Amino acid sequence: MEVVKKKNGSNMENIKIPDPYWGSDLANIILDLEKLRTKRLGGDVPSHIFFQLKDIFHILETLGSARIEGNNTTLSEYVEKIIEDGIKDESNDEIRNLENAIDFIEENTDENTSINRAFISEIHKIITNNLTPPPVGEGSRNAGELRTHDVKIKKSGHTPPTHFLLKEQFEGFIKFINFAHKEQYQLLMVAVAHHRFEFIHPFDNGNGRMGRLLNYAFLIKLGFQVKTGRIINPSSVFYTDRDKYYDMLSKADSLKDDDILSWCEYFLLGLKNEIEKIDSLLNQEYVKKHLLLPTLQIAREAQQINNLEFKILDYLINKDDMSMKSEELSALGITDSKKKSIVMGKLKEKNIIVPVTKGGRIYTIKFVNNYLLRGIMKVLRENGFVSDFLNNN
Ligand SMILES: Nc1ncnc2c1ncn2[C@@H]1O[C@H](COP(=O)(O)OP(=O)(O)O)[C@@H](O)[C@H]1O
Ligand SMILES: [Mg+2]
Repeated sequence: MEVVKKKNGSNMENIKIPDPYWGSDLANIILDLEKLRTKRLGGDVPSHIFFQLKDIFHILETLGSARIEGNNTTLSEYVEKIIEDGIKDESNDEIRNLENAIDFIEENTDENTSINRAFISEIHKIITNNLTPPPVGEGSRNAGELRTHDVKIKKSGHTPPTHFLLKEQFEGFIKFINFAHKEQYQLLMVAVAHHRFEFIHPFDNGNGRMGRLLNYAFLIKLGFQVKTGRIINPSSVFYTDRDKYYDMLSKADSLKDDDILSWCEYFLLGLKNEIEKIDSLLNQEYVKKHLLLPTLQIAREAQQINNLEFKILDYLINKDDMSMKSEELSALGITDSKKKSIVMGKLKEKNIIVPVTKGGRIYTIKFVNNYLLRGIMKVLRENGFVSDFLNNN
């Protein structure tokens, strides 16, 4: 008879990934996430629409991560700033830094990337760039470097390791996250790593933002198809309920197996729900019916577009490729070519339509940096994509 050995999780550099019970909720969540990891993304949303939606979700992600740390900008305020400037807000450095960090991660991460000290340092410099150091601001005295003094974490009973032990612990952490964990431990590794990073608190500030950005990098590294057609907002797992996030981190500070497993379950369930919800944005029918057409209605009711403009955009959104040439205005009863170019010119001026390819003659609707953004945020909220946390004062 074969003796079944009791497994004891995976242990690496004194950071342990405990084994969940086979059949537990956590094991099922991991199985579901593994399916999502490799699922063929069968979305039919045209890419020029998809990437705008992705931009919008980056706005939600960065704002959410900044708000967890006490940034008071609400989503409505932020949307108004974006509309006023016509570009993403330049004055709000903290949020812009997070956007830059996401861009940096997307550009520099693939399945073989080593998430090492240099990589983490670079991100830390980006997120603290131009910000006042603590205790006043959200910057750092030592951007990209480990802290040289002891710290406390606000609103928590946990004391991170003294700075004398930091280098060793941080190096252990780097080995842990780059170790070739067996497949069944990889998602657990991401969850354990987030807690452990916060537990160690390697920087004088920015540890929360940094840890959440690392989640994003891990998901790209693990092949969650983030760059090739999926949108993931790993922070929204946390900002739907910030107190719960802090409570679960605190509990895991005991480093007991059961508490670490509870943390993993909390984190990975949140992630699974988030991915499933956002995957619906790959479905053209869904995007058309539940997002874009209602957004147009809102814009018309607010008289931001007139009836003719509504008709044109409605026509465009209802097409399979969600794009059109000005010639097609004949289908809407505008036959005179001069009138056609006047009508299209006006929409271009308002920045509501843009060429699909630079300088091209085929146009698509634009909704990320004009007043359509108000409507789309409202509609996204109604469809459960935007947490109230982003708007509460
Ligand atoms: N009990 C806890 N144990 C470990 N980490 C915690 C705990 N409570 C909060 N944290 C983490 O500490 C972060 C705040 O640290 P901080 O360095 O100020 O980051 P940031 O400047 O990005 O806010 C929180 O976002 C959270 O991730
Ligand atoms: Mg801080």
